[in-house]
Amino acid sequence: MFSSNTNKYKLFNEDALSLLSRIPSNSIDLILTDPPYNIALKSTGNIQLRNGKIINNDIADWDKNPLNPLEYMSNFKRILSSKGNIFIFTSYSLLGKWHEAFDKEFNTFQIFVWHKTTPTESVYKNSFLNSCELVVCLWNKHHTWNFLSQKEMHNFFECPSCRYPEKLSFPNHPTQKPLVLMEHLIKIASNLNEIILDPFMGVGTTGEAALNLNRKFIGCDINKQYCEASLKRLSKF
Ligand SMILES: C[S@@+](CC[C@H](N)C(=O)[O-])C[C@H]1O[C@@H](n2cnc3c(N)ncnc32)[C@H](O)[C@@H]1O
Repeated sequence: MFSSNTNKYKLFNEDALSLLSRIPSNSIDLILTDPPYNIALKSTGNIQLRNGKIINNDIADWDKNPLNPLEYMSNFKRILSSKGNIFIFTSYSLLGKWHEAFDKEFNTFQIFVWHKTTPTESVYKNSFLNSCELVVCLWNKHHTWNFLSQKEMHNFFECPSCRYPEKLSFPNHPTQKPLVLMEHLIKIASNLNEIILDPFMGVGTTGEAALNLNRKFIGCDINKQYCEASLKRLSKF
């Protein structure tokens, strides 16, 4: 274990699969996670704008290791409580693989969309802006569901990308999610004191959102610097 604070959170600096294999069955109420998207594999590199600004088109080295959703299916299914929910951020390149591995294992497979109101600008202006991220949503019949007003239950959510001062300057995580988005999903799909797991936690956004809402958190990342940043973020609780 990397660190633990009372019984509110536990953080692990290791490979997600190795942690998942040790988590007891039926013990997690919500898996809310943002694994690699494998879009860096298709990147043609960073783009230099005329004003000197560089658009990060590479995401990160961690996105280059091929991720196979099937490898996560049996443990996600085993550790989820009978009233649990799973939300997995993904990309167009892995969506089909998540569907193939998970759809037949759960009663429901739905898609939720995060619409970023501040997308990266389009350099060549010859395609759509990349302003949406996909979230795979999975559950079984007796899942927890806190239905908010009809207006709040559209299967998309709009907010800006994570910006300063919420965005950490060190380490600069290229895909740090906004707290308001994670809190929205946690409110809908879990209750007070329940356990939220993010095995690809990056700099701990799911953890901070969970603790803000008086849930408990288990988080993991393979990168030590990201784990240290998560610990710093969560140590205020
Ligand atoms: C998309 S980012 C998550 C960002 C996070 N949602 C946040 O707000 O900071 C994916 C993370 O998965 C981590 N990762 C990649 N492969 C992993 C593995 N096999 N086990 C655990 N973590 C891994 C990367 O280090 C990266 O921080």
